[in-house]
Amino acid sequence: MKIEILTENPLHHASAALVIGCFEDAKDELYAALDSELGGCLARLAASREFTGKTNSSRLLHTLGKLPCERLLLVGLGKRAELDSERLRQAAGTAMQALRSARVASFSSALCQSVALPDALEAVATGSLLGAYAFEWYKTKDKEERFEGFEAMTLLLPKEADLEAARARVEASGSIAQGVRLARDLVSQPGNVVTPGYLADTAREISGRHGLSCRVYEMDELIAMGMGALVAVGKGAAEPPRLIVLEYQGAGAKGRPTVLVGKGITFDSGGISIKPGAGMEEMKTDMAGSAAVLGTMAAAAGLKLPLNLVGIIPTAENMPDGKAFKPGDVLTSLSGTTIEITNTDAEGRLILCDALHFAQKYKPVALIDLATLTGACVVALGHEASGLMGNDQRLADALQRAGERSGERLWQLPLWDEYGEGMKSDIADLKNSGSRDGGTLKAGWFLKQFVGATHWAHLDIAGTAWCDKARPYCPKGATGVGVRLLIEYLTGR
Ligand code: BES
Ligand code: MN
Ligand code: ZN
Repeated sequence: MKIEILTENPLHHASAALVIGCFEDAKDELYAALDSELGGCLARLAASREFTGKTNSSRLLHTLGKLPCERLLLVGLGKRAELDSERLRQAAGTAMQALRSARVASFSSALCQSVALPDALEAVATGSLLGAYAFEWYKTKDKEERFEGFEAMTLLLPKEADLEAARARVEASGSIAQGVRLARDLVSQPGNVVTPGYLADTAREISGRHGLSCRVYEMDELIAMGMGALVAVGKGAAEPPRLIVLEYQGAGAKGRPTVLVGKGITFDSGGISIKPGAGMEEMKTDMAGSAAVLGTMAAAAGLKLPLNLVGIIPTAENMPDGKAFKPGDVLTSLSGTTIEITNTDAEGRLILCDALHFAQKYKPVALIDLATLTGACVVALGHEASGLMGNDQRLADALQRAGERSGERLWQLPLWDEYGEGMKSDIADLKNSGSRDGGTLKAGWFLKQFVGATHWAHLDIAGTAWCDKARPYCPKGATGVGVRLLIEYLTGR
């Protein structure tokens, strides 16, 4: 979608559709002027309660020559005092859904005009760009009937706005949205397309485009390095596991990096401890952590952030096979810690434990992992927040704040040592799964054993990576969670 930015008066601006924001409890000058041109139509809609300005509501009108815009799209902003950037992002997303249903591909938006938020422009740009997203790679029928996608958006800013600065801010929102779209695409893609090899190719492609360095460790190297846990998980699949490492240097060679680690299980059948059939298809999303890392690396490079960043992705398919690892096996992880397998479906913590140990060689200022790690986290927090755990309260607090600002909320869970009591093995140092109770915390505690003294946070995104219901700026399916959160954290205030 092409984006143009103008300081034209919306009243005199010609377009196929003009989007304006309306509060429930306050009517501004623009609203009054449009209402008078339309002969009191807006007041009539409010009086009959057909459109009152409630959040995430919208109403499309044809202006029949009474205004230079062919259509007027009213979008609810709720109560004036309650407006924040998340509501504005949602309003912008709601507008996209209404425009999509009406098949209006080019439009102008005056959403920024009704609000005094400092980051209104970013919110409108982000909500629009993400609201425009659809995953339609595999739809081959009824091409004519389907909406072809958005072509152009014109953002109308107040006349005193600094256009140069506005362009830069919108461009930045565009880089972030591109990272989110990449993550959504990767998660939406089926497991027969997105394999460990595909993730490696994607990482190489991103590196080429943005000038990052990229190294992909293959099976023989993983064995030689001693990554016994990652190798074990990948053994049962036809497609071998990989360790992908991306490096972005925005602060010179000396600065210690922030290291991001993403779980990249491209399909989780459960392995020999196989999962029940119902819903197993959703396990193509078990690489959402890796998608978030790739999207964040691309966005950070696109934004030219002045910091160093390393992205590490352990990736494998978890499959049952004659060669697969089995319950009872004992593995030696990269750190030397031995692990008795009690459930091959607790594979995420295995590939992560090797990656987290590996990450320490970068001496990270902060180490953050993202993983669709436990079903228990979905039970605990549903789809509204990712689980946050770690060994450093300042890092956890900073991430939590970034979650509030980005709308990708986090909720902290404890990692007390008591959770480890059930994770001790009779014959090895650890076992990879304990009893069901406190499953998210036991998984987190397990990871904690591999980070040493590094400032570390773990985000369990099992409930937030995929959504069964559409939201204003996220269709049903992959959310791309993590990208906006991490960029907000990295650029953090
Ligand atoms: N990938 C799953 C967790 C998951 C569940 C992600 C639902 C997204 C939605 C993970 O590998 C897994 O299977 N976890 C097990 C752990 C158990 C065997 C200790 C779980 O949560 O049941
Ligand atoms: Mn599993
Ligand atoms: Zn898994």
